[in-house]
Amino acid sequence: MGSNLLPINALERNMKNIPEFSVLPKHVGIIMDGNGRWAKQRNLPRYKGHIEGAKTFRKIGEFAADVGVKCLTFYAFSTENWKRPQEEIDAIMALFRDYLIEAEERSAENEEKGIQLRFLGDRKGIPEDIVAMMNHIESMSSDKSKVVLNIAVNYGGRHEIANAVRKIAEKVRNGEMDICDIDEDTISDLLYTKGLPDPDLIIRPSGECRLSNFLTYQSAYSELWFSDVLWPDFTEDDFLEALREFEKRNRRFGGV
Ligand code: FPP
Repeated sequence: MGSNLLPINALERNMKNIPEFSVLPKHVGIIMDGNGRWAKQRNLPRYKGHIEGAKTFRKIGEFAADVGVKCLTFYAFSTENWKRPQEEIDAIMALFRDYLIEAEERSAENEEKGIQLRFLGDRKGIPEDIVAMMNHIESMSSDKSKVVLNIAVNYGGRHEIANAVRKIAEKVRNGEMDICDIDEDTISDLLYTKGLPDPDLIIRPSGECRLSNFLTYQSAYSELWFSDVLWPDFTEDDFLEALREFEKRNRRFGGV
């Protein structure tokens, strides 16, 4: 992803055979799951599944932008994923590093296209060279607004909320904030997703029906869509199916 991540015009849309939707989610979150099982089914080491998963990430990212989704969040590595064998962690970080190098190389192109890249999660623990690239890429694209692409790395929803609570407590202790002024926006503004809409739709492939600490605060009213397809096999048609289903959902946000 990166090179072609840009909303397309009507002609291109027609040529690419991309359907129109009466309603599109403003923000789609995707839990990229099933890489390990994909590899196991083929008697391959797990990292091969992540290599294929990274290809699917690029493919679906580009496609989602073509369809017109303006904000995307991919869950690449959770705060719990450090429990995996070091070899697998290194393989995932290497794939992430490759992607960042590619994004830096294409920064001029991305700038022209108005793509904002953001990284959600705790940077502590991530290899230093990767963090340097994350910081650089993020600062270069922070004023772009056509498409926001978030990649969650060393991300955990509870960890994110705990950080926000700690910051609020500090403000109260320092007399910068009154307890009575704490509301939902106070918390939202202290999350990695500050300023972004909450995810309207969260997609999880691979047959697991849970959120696994993904966008815990932000997903309060998200529509959830699960599929048995393993992430490396996830196609553009699967993504369209999720959007079609979203189109049919009746969102009431607690109303009637
Ligand atoms: C979950 O599948 C997947 C991950 C923990 C890693 C996802 C990472 C990538 C797709 C590569 C990231 C790269 C970029 C460029 C963002 P799993 O391993 O838990 O699968 P399983 O449940 O079948 O074992």
